[in-house]
Amino acid sequence: MKALAVINCSQVVTLAGPARPRTGAELRHLAIIQDGALFVRDGLIEKADSRQEIERFITDEVEIIDAQDRVVLPGFVDAHTHPVFAGNRVNEFEQRTVGKTYQEIAASGGGIQSTVRATRAASHDQLVQAGMKYAGWFLASGTTTVEAKSGYGLTLEDEVKILESIRRLNAETPLNYVPTFLGAHAIPAEFRSRREQYVSLVIDEMLPAVAQKKLAEYCDVFCEEEVFTPDETWRILSAARCQGLGLRLHADQLTLAGGAKLAAELNTVTADHLEYTDAEGIAALKASNVQPVLLPASVYALGSRRYPAARQMIEAGLAVILATDFNPGSSPTPSMLTVLSLAATQLKMTVAEAITAATINPAYSLNRGSQIGSLEPGKIANFVIHDVADYRELGYFFGIQHPWRVYTSGRLAYERENRVNTD
Ligand code: NIG
Ligand code: FE
Repeated sequence: MKALAVINCSQVVTLAGPARPRTGAELRHLAIIQDGALFVRDGLIEKADSRQEIERFITDEVEIIDAQDRVVLPGFVDAHTHPVFAGNRVNEFEQRTVGKTYQEIAASGGGIQSTVRATRAASHDQLVQAGMKYAGWFLASGTTTVEAKSGYGLTLEDEVKILESIRRLNAETPLNYVPTFLGAHAIPAEFRSRREQYVSLVIDEMLPAVAQKKLAEYCDVFCEEEVFTPDETWRILSAARCQGLGLRLHADQLTLAGGAKLAAELNTVTADHLEYTDAEGIAALKASNVQPVLLPASVYALGSRRYPAARQMIEAGLAVILATDFNPGSSPTPSMLTVLSLAATQLKMTVAEAITAATINPAYSLNRGSQIGSLEPGKIANFVIHDVADYRELGYFFGIQHPWRVYTSGRLAYERENRVNTD
C-alpha cells in the first residue's frame, strides 16, 4: 500500500489536544492547520502539518491527493445507531404526520414491535444486504465508525442473528462498527403479561451467550415508562457489567424517568437522549463523569420541540457527544451533517463544539480515543475531504452531502460523483 500525501487543504481540522474527552471551552478548540497537509503511511496518520513540512516527505513512491482547497476532517464517529433491521416504518411516519404520536403507535402494536416482526422474519443475508445499503449512506455522509445496537430481535436467536450481521458488515464494508447488545429494547409482545420472565431471559440466557461469543462490547437498555423500569434496567446493566460489557443507557427520552440519575449510579460510559433530564440529572452525570449522547435528529424526526439542554450540559463540564440515533422509527437519518445543522440551530452549539462532539468525544466513549477521532500521529487514517473551504460551512449549508472523498485506514472508501451535465 502506497503512502499518501493529502495536499492543498484549505484547513486540516486535526482535533489534536489532550488525550481525553474535551469539555467546556476545549470543545471549541479544533487545532486547525490552515493551508495544511496530511501524510499517511500503512493506514496510519504519520503527520498533519503545513504544506511545506509535508512536501518534504513526498517522493515518487507517494500517492498525492490534491484536495483542491477543501477541508479535511477526521471521519465522524457516530456513537448511537440502530443500523440492522428489516423493512422500514414509512407507514407510521405518515400516521405521525397526520397527528398520531410515537407512543400511541407503539401502544397499538406498531413502533419497535413492528420492526421486530420484520427483523425476525428476515434471514441473516437479508439483514446484511439491508445493512450494506445503510453503510453506504453513513460513508457518503462522512461517518467512518458507528456504534451499532441490536434490539430488533428480542429472542436469543434473533439478537445473535443481528449481532452476527453487524460483525459481517464490519468485516465486509469499509465502515467500522462497534457492537452493542440491546436485548432490552422493548418487552416483546409474547412476554407482555410476564415481563419478569423476559428480564430473566435477557440476564440469564442472552447476556451470557452474547458475552461468550464476543458479539458485543457494550450493553444498552431502553429505560422508559412502559418499557424497562429503573429497577429492571439496574439489574440488566449490573449483569452486563459482570459479563465484562461496557454500559450505555437510553435515558429520559420521552419522560423524566430517572434515567440520568441511574446512569450516574451505575457509572455507565454514556447516557443517551436526555431530552427530559433536569438540572439534578445533569449534576449527577457530572459527578460520575458519564458522557451525554445527544440525538437531536430523533427530536426533529418525531416532530417534537423538546431538545436536550446541551448548553447547560456544556456549562456543567460534561464531555458532550452528538449522534444520529439512526433507526427506522424515531430517527431515519444516518447523517451526522444533519446533526451538526440541528446542533447549531436547535442546541445552540457552535459548529466547532459540534465537530468535537462528533469526532474525538465519541471516540473516547467507544474506548477508541487513542485510535480514532482526531488526525494525530499514530492514529488510524480515517479522514474525510469535505467539499467546503471553511469547516463552519458543514453546519451552515444543510441537506448537502459535503464529503468528496472518504478514507478508512488510508484506503478510499467512498468517492462522490459530482458531474453536472453541461452538454
Ligand atoms: O433511540 N428509544 C428507543 N429506541 C430508538 C427507537 C427505535 C425505534 O423506534 O425503532 C431510539 O429512539
Ligand atoms: Fe436509540
